[in-house]
Amino acid sequence: MTDQSEQRDRLGTELLEIALEAATRAGAFLRDSRPDDLGVAATKSSAVDVVTEMDIASEKLITGLLADRRPDDGVLGEEGASVEGNSGVEWVIDPLDGTVNYLYGLPSWAVSIAARVDGETVVGVVYAPLRGETYRAVLGEGAYVNDRPARVRPAPALELALVGTGFGYLPHRRATQADVVRELIPQVRDIRRGGSAAIDLCDVAVGRLDGYYERGLNPWDYAAGDLVAREAGALTGGRPGEPLSPDLTVAAPPGLFEPLQARLDELGAWHD
Ligand code: IPD
Ligand code: CA
Ligand code: CA
Repeated sequence: MTDQSEQRDRLGTELLEIALEAATRAGAFLRDSRPDDLGVAATKSSAVDVVTEMDIASEKLITGLLADRRPDDGVLGEEGASVEGNSGVEWVIDPLDGTVNYLYGLPSWAVSIAARVDGETVVGVVYAPLRGETYRAVLGEGAYVNDRPARVRPAPALELALVGTGFGYLPHRRATQADVVRELIPQVRDIRRGGSAAIDLCDVAVGRLDGYYERGLNPWDYAAGDLVAREAGALTGGRPGEPLSPDLTVAAPPGLFEPLQARLDELGAWHD
């Protein structure tokens, strides 16, 4: 092993340990301290795009731990955490993905933490406390759910695929997303709307969904789950030939990815 690759390995291991600790602590806090009368602290893009006091507290817990362990790193968090950094490492954090599920007491929510080095995601951790599952991946080293290797299912034909998706918070975007689903649903096995993009991507990784797509995600929604899905054998991307982006995120095993991505492109899933 060269000095450089040894250094990369050591950094990957260090970042993974920190991401696991931060996600585990934030997830336990969200699970154990959820107030019975949890209310909405503020709204973001629309009246249904909610943030609770717990989203904010979870982000503070995570950024506090990161500042303590790696003070020179950059941070991008959904609830406003923004640190420039000068180490080449940037943390991309969704302190509570699936806020609406959490607000209503539904179990599908997670803490999502990714580490990027020079812009490339090298570590992804998604902790879903009410599933008792942590999904994790290090670039080039495979994906795991708890301590078991995560693997996508073999690709079915598009007509037999169980496909997850999600809807944004803006009314005009949701209306277009509903049009796409209306066209797609007779052409696949069924559609699922789980309510956490990070978990959806991990569900592709562990074979609980055949595929997943959504328009309008932000890096904190997909950074960790994208790496977990890819390391579990999925392909991910946006429009054909393009990387995944806020315009469109698609994930599925090879053989399903291509026809799903092509179909979504024809249906205009990438625009409002
Ligand atoms: C949302 C969830 C949801 C997806 C939305 C996201 P939030 O994140 O991931 O499944 O459909 O696009 O914004 O607001 O719960 O962190
Ligand atoms: Ca989110
Ligand atoms: Ca969130």
